[in-house]
Amino acid sequence: SVTLNCEVEHPSAGWSFYWYKAVPDLSEKSSSYELLPDGSGTAQDSYIIHGQTHTAGYVCRAGRGDPEYHTDHSQPKFVWSAPASLTVSPDRVQHFTSDSVSLTCEGNFIEWRVRKFSEDGQLYSDCRRMTGSTCNIYTSKSDTAVYWCESGSGEFSNAVNITVHDYDPILVSPVHPVTEGTSVSLSCCSREKILSNVIFYYNNKIIQNDTWGELNISAVSKSDEGFYKCQYSGRESAQSWMSVRAVFSSSFSVLMISGLIFGIVFIFLVFLYKKVYRKKGETLLFYSLKYLNKQHS
Ligand SMILES: *[C@@H]1O[C@H](CO)[C@@H](O)[C@H](O)[C@H]1NC(C)=O
Ligand SMILES: *[C@@H]1O[C@H](CO)[C@@H](O)[C@H](O)[C@H]1NC(C)=O
Ligand SMILES: *[C@@H]1O[C@H](CO)[C@@H](O)[C@H](O)[C@H]1NC(C)=O
Repeated sequence: SVTLNCEVEHPSAGWSFYWYKAVPDLSEKSSSYELLPDGSGTAQDSYIIHGQTHTAGYVCRAGRGDPEYHTDHSQPKFVWSAPASLTVSPDRVQHFTSDSVSLTCEGNFIEWRVRKFSEDGQLYSDCRRMTGSTCNIYTSKSDTAVYWCESGSGEFSNAVNITVHDYDPILVSPVHPVTEGTSVSLSCCSREKILSNVIFYYNNKIIQNDTWGELNISAVSKSDEGFYKCQYSGRESAQSWMSVRAVFSSSFSVLMISGLIFGIVFIFLVFLYKKVYRKKGETLLFYSLKYLNKQHS
């Protein structure tokens, strides 16, 4: 399950919270949010989503007083647990206007639709130019959005941010979360080329100012997560969020548990072997140990 939290700038008693999910809107209203079950006027500032299997964007807002005054909707947060994947080519968050960008859905199905959740809170259900499982975009500024794939039979992909810019330079940063411990390289480019003599910023602070055009992080950690941007000859790119995926908790414990199971099974087998073929087992163990000793010396 996933817990969403909602915050108001000056917390105080008396706020109620409202929880919404982005849904495709056919009537072309200004936003396409649907109130969640039990999401209306709760006193709690958190909402728990249990066992979600689809990809969706969530927003909250708060209300207070009589008649009730409502805040704006929050920024959306996307939640997914995705067997399928969405890849972006070229593989970066930021793109120039009039670029060709393709979004490809990969999974067990052939029929995909690409969902687009735009900056103004509209959810679009279909890609205009879909060839097979690839959506081709000839970028304009209105293509700045969060995208994901959905198959007809209810398979979903991860969600990705794509932003479109009509000025130099743009930051070249990964679309997908970077796995903790792996390396990542960020760069800065104009419409024509990759730039050198670039200044890189992390959360608005300079982290590299030298003649290299690349910002290399050799082993990414959770503390590298945040907003990055670059600057070239006085001009700044927009900033983009780089997220870092932790591996320790899940993969490591899987490794530990499999190790433990193997260990127990091994000891059990040796025990059984000794018990059943007592004599033979002993000699075999003896010879194996002797052999190992030899290898060592
Ligand atoms: C998109 O970028 C925003 C920051 O601008 C970040 O908070 C969010 O997690 C990103 N969403 C996805 C789906 O990566
Ligand atoms: C970046 O480095 C150059 C050369 O060392 C220096 O002249 C310039 O002031 C630095 N820029 C910033 C923003 O610190
Ligand atoms: C950064 O990494 C790339 C490969 O990912 C490598 O080609 C490049 O030389 C590295 N740059 C620096 C400054 O270490």
